[in-house]
Amino acid sequence: MPEKIAESERDGFACYYAATAEAGPRPTLLRALAGLASRPLAAGPPLAVDLGCGTGRDTLPMLAAGLLVLAVDREPAALAELRRRASVAALSAGLVTRCRDFTRLRLPPADLVNGSFCLPLCPPERFPALWRRIRRALRPGGRVAGQLYGPRDEWAGRPGITTHRPDEVAALCAGLEVEWLEEEESETMTPRGRRKRWHIWHLVARRPINADPG
Ligand SMILES: C[S@@+](CC[C@H](N)C(=O)[O-])C[C@H]1O[C@@H](n2cnc3c(N)ncnc32)[C@H](O)[C@@H]1O
Repeated sequence: MPEKIAESERDGFACYYAATAEAGPRPTLLRALAGLASRPLAAGPPLAVDLGCGTGRDTLPMLAAGLLVLAVDREPAALAELRRRASVAALSAGLVTRCRDFTRLRLPPADLVNGSFCLPLCPPERFPALWRRIRRALRPGGRVAGQLYGPRDEWAGRPGITTHRPDEVAALCAGLEVEWLEEEESETMTPRGRRKRWHIWHLVARRPINADPG
């Protein structure tokens, strides 16, 4: 079972970062990276955007895989820790960090837009525009990977939390090749030791080579 930890309150993130400091990459990221391996070498190093990157649980494996990564988070302390970890691992050369609200960010053309456990933290009124920007950023053959929350997640209905029903997930993926879509319902602890009911969509989808981004 994939690890499921996230906090919605900003003051929970310091605890979240500490609790996940040693955690490995998300399975959705690994799936997307496996897909990138078939990309022609002549195309140059792939460019990825890691939205809500935190301290780099996914960013560091992306850098290690040879991607150039634009890592975005609004928590300066998380980005400082990410830069420190990248430097220790001699991976800083491919890393650019931005301390920004990813829900309002213009995204560069990318081979991968990764949003692990952060996309549901985009307020519902901003989610459609965010998703449009993500789709438009995808280069032909580019992928989006991450998690969405379903309507039975315990945080559904909280201010600032976006959830998606199955038909809404299908609409988000229209025109994309869905490489992995897994629904998960479970109950586990958050880093602050609270039990939480989770309803998660794990998603990896690819823009077809010859298709409009939609
Ligand atoms: C649950 S953590 C996930 C971190 C990492 N992606 C992972 O999978 O472990 C969510 C991250 O998204 C960031 N975040 C949430 N909303 C954001 C926003 N609107 N703009 C930028 N960062 C945001 C938080 O600061 C936090 O680092």
